[in-house]
Amino acid sequence: MTDTPRPLVAGNWKMNGLQADLAQIALMTDDRPNCDLLICPPFTLIAAAQIKAQGSIISIGAQDCHPAVSGAHTGDVSAGMLADLGCTHVIVGHSERRADHGETDQLVHAKAEAVIRAGMTAIICVGETEAERDAGQTMDRVLSQLAGSVPTTASSDNVIVAYEPVWAIGTGRTPTPADVADVHNGLRMALVDRFADQGHAIRLLYGGSVKPQNAQELMSVSNVNGALVGGASLTADSFLGIAAAYD
Ligand code: PGA
Repeated sequence: MTDTPRPLVAGNWKMNGLQADLAQIALMTDDRPNCDLLICPPFTLIAAAQIKAQGSIISIGAQDCHPAVSGAHTGDVSAGMLADLGCTHVIVGHSERRADHGETDQLVHAKAEAVIRAGMTAIICVGETEAERDAGQTMDRVLSQLAGSVPTTASSDNVIVAYEPVWAIGTGRTPTPADVADVHNGLRMALVDRFADQGHAIRLLYGGSVKPQNAQELMSVSNVNGALVGGASLTADSFLGIAAAYD
């Protein structure tokens, strides 16, 4: 059996942030002995964020990419372009993209493959809606998203899975630690079933209304190897307040 994965606290800035906000990244760069830190700003800030983060432990990633290597796809950005900017991670299949842009598991799978081919790590998001939770379909939903979205080439070096209940994103509501444990244990079993030892080593993040006040409780749940943070990743104070759960 493999060691417990090293935790990752990842920030997703979504469609937030102007150049002035890069000052926050400069404030996030102090050493964290027990966890890795990642910020995924909007495309427009990636290059400048890299400069701010240089020489520090903070990595810079992106929030999406196109599955193709290049071509006639106006407005899109390829995984190779992001790797070329020094990105280490790309979020794929976030519920906001699944909802706003109709992204299917099949497309998310193709995007994750593109990220892996470009030598980066794909953070693949899964999560149930409130209606699915109320109907008792949480596990079915996340396991089918997992099966459909995670490529067969996945390993702990190139894939991270983030469980983000859609109803918990940006709402201030979170599942109970017991509910998070149920889902994360189920995801872990499915990963081990499919990837054997590698399945133990693939990081599982929890996302949805993580803040400094609840981070310790959520991060100590079994099979939670870090957080994917939206709103609370926009300032260094709250982002590092979450990372402090691992101090
Ligand atoms: P939130 O977003 O922390 O603002 O709830 C989480 C996410 O969508 O990754």
